[in-house]
Amino acid sequence: MIVCDSDLAMSRREHWDAVYRGRDVSEVSWYQPEPALSLSLIRRVAPALDASIIDVGGGASVLVDRLLDAGYRHVTVLDIAEPALALARQRLGARAAEARWIAADLLTAELERAAYDVWHDRAVFHFLTRSEDRRQYGDSLRHAIRDGGHAIVSGFATDGPARCSGLEVVRYTPESLHAALGKGFELLDSTREEHRTPSGATQPFVYCLLRRYTG
Ligand SMILES: C[S@@+](CC[C@H](N)C(=O)[O-])C[C@H]1O[C@@H](n2cnc3c(N)ncnc32)[C@H](O)[C@@H]1O
Repeated sequence: MIVCDSDLAMSRREHWDAVYRGRDVSEVSWYQPEPALSLSLIRRVAPALDASIIDVGGGASVLVDRLLDAGYRHVTVLDIAEPALALARQRLGARAAEARWIAADLLTAELERAAYDVWHDRAVFHFLTRSEDRRQYGDSLRHAIRDGGHAIVSGFATDGPARCSGLEVVRYTPESLHAALGKGFELLDSTREEHRTPSGATQPFVYCLLRRYTG
């Protein structure tokens, strides 16, 4: 059977729509009541509250709530699953209007060039098992982040699970994740986190903190 890119993109969206339609978000394995590490890394590289921050594959994460609580004024959440964004907006109520919401596949989304100071991704890049998708991700990241801006990209560590949400993932060391993003990023730091899932399992994550450079 020939599967073309648009079929893959469609099945990706259908998969994630179904995940969020069918479940309580506090029960999904990646649920975090407090995304403390993400927040501290963002605050470290973007102390100014007018920084432009995008959480790609943000889903229904409460990171947007915490960023708004902290006073950030330019927060965007992008996700392929509109039902996930709807859940986050519902939770925020009137405050949802303080953030920007983009329902799109990050591999094809038309993001504004150099529009963001910080790109945050927790557990999205690791789903890209095809090299052309990883290349496309790197291109989108290079396009959307300003020169000198930062990316925080995290996914399962090499001793983490081989699958997430029923999908195969690629597991990384800080160095292999850095290399997979392609040219134009300096690896400033990396951290490991032992994520506890709602059912009590431990999932090791690696977080990379990168700076975008050109030339
Ligand atoms: C494991 S969840 C992580 C959610 C969130 N980052 C967190 O930490 O709670 C992966 C998220 O990525 C989204 N996603 C998967 N592939 C995507 C893509 N190609 N473009 C945009 N979002 C995507 C899914 O809908 C889902 O919300």
